Amino acid sequence: MPADFDTIVNLAKKRGFVFQSSEIYGGIRSAYDYGPLGAELLRNVKDQWWRSMVQMRDDIVGIDSAVIQAPSVWVASGHLASFSDPLVECRECHNRFRLDKLENLNQCPTCGSKESFTEPREFNLMFRTNMGPIENDDNAVYLRPETAQGIFINFENVRRTARKRIPFGIAQVGKSFRNEITPGQFVFRTREFEQMEMEFFCHPDEADEWFRYWIDERRNWYIDLGMNEENLQFREHEQDELSHYSSGTYDVDYRFPWGWDELEGIANRTDFDLKAHAEYSGEDLTYFDPVTNERFYPYVIEPAAGATRTTFAFLIDAYHEEEVRGEQRAVLKLDARLSPVKVAVLPLSKKDDLVATTNRVADLLRPLWMTEVDITQSIGRRYRRQDEIGTPLAVTIDFDTLDDDQVTIRDRDTMDQDRIPIENLVTYLAERLPN
Ligand code: GAP
Repeated sequence: MPADFDTIVNLAKKRGFVFQSSEIYGGIRSAYDYGPLGAELLRNVKDQWWRSMVQMRDDIVGIDSAVIQAPSVWVASGHLASFSDPLVECRECHNRFRLDKLENLNQCPTCGSKESFTEPREFNLMFRTNMGPIENDDNAVYLRPETAQGIFINFENVRRTARKRIPFGIAQVGKSFRNEITPGQFVFRTREFEQMEMEFFCHPDEADEWFRYWIDERRNWYIDLGMNEENLQFREHEQDELSHYSSGTYDVDYRFPWGWDELEGIANRTDFDLKAHAEYSGEDLTYFDPVTNERFYPYVIEPAAGATRTTFAFLIDAYHEEEVRGEQRAVLKLDARLSPVKVAVLPLSKKDDLVATTNRVADLLRPLWMTEVDITQSIGRRYRRQDEIGTPLAVTIDFDTLDDDQVTIRDRDTMDQDRIPIENLVTYLAERLPN
């Protein structure tokens, strides 16, 4: 059973994962701020992606390109001409909708009017602004709608300086912006969001093989990080769904509370982008293979995931309500690598000597793991709170600790407890908290 949408949104707000952006001014639609726990969770998702894509491989390197690029980038990439959704307007209330998302073409979902909609027109999703103090068409620039183009335009820079031979990949994590007609479902579809994209350059003859390879790799990444396999599906795009650059795409869908929806697209972008940038820039973006003496445009396999969307999916997937030892609890069974707080240090009471030992233990752990000290309320309530934010391990300092220098460690999922000397604590935790 997928978690209930409202329960997750309430948890996210109540515990400080996500806030409506500009809340004190009534909020701005479709933008969100990540609070202390949400910022950690989002960062951990991005770090795990970076670790698997860049750190653990010698055939992929990372970059961090600018959000604002030369306008020609978007002409060459096809985004200025084709990155649009069909938009219709209700003749009665003048609300606007994506034609392909309207369930009933004879009735407005907002005002219920049966007056017809306007003819569809293509609405470009890129945010447009001006570079410099003068506002005119000559200095119009766009906020990037995908991080991918920053990679294509740096293909030659990276290949040369990182001394890479094909097949190799370039990865990037960062903000993208789309003026979505219908944002919604909390952080699922927003106008400002983060992507995790990797462009893998290979020989055209090997593109199909690498396409299948990356579909498997990406499936393994989600499952290895604890996502329930039953909540994941890989769906091949129909011919008429394909983006303008793609010869084949698989969507990685997650079973959200409202149904299956996209987390990631894995596409064969062929040589579309490098060829287009070579044509528009006049630069030679072919690759010369010194072994075969062949010169060609590499093909590109692209796993393109949403960081904010994936973070939301991990949150939903981890949420459980259960009864344990006669008590009802809500628990986030996040993989420890994703948990915002890794270790909670909890003194049994607020007495000075217990708090002093708590601080000594926390100082020992902080350089190694995200550690939280909580001295308020009853120990039971503090365990419940740590369960609800997904902290895998809690270290309790009790009165015996003052005599024997031992602490009790409670496991979030099993609720089992171990008693160990403080001098063994770092080794004990290191075995249970992988990178
Ligand atoms: N470079 C290819 C590309 O951008 P995409 O399928 O349009 O492909 C990739 O986007 C991923 O970015 C999506 O699967 C989704 O996770 C995320 N994404 C796209 N639009 C989004 C939005 N408005 N809000 C949140 N995430 C979004």
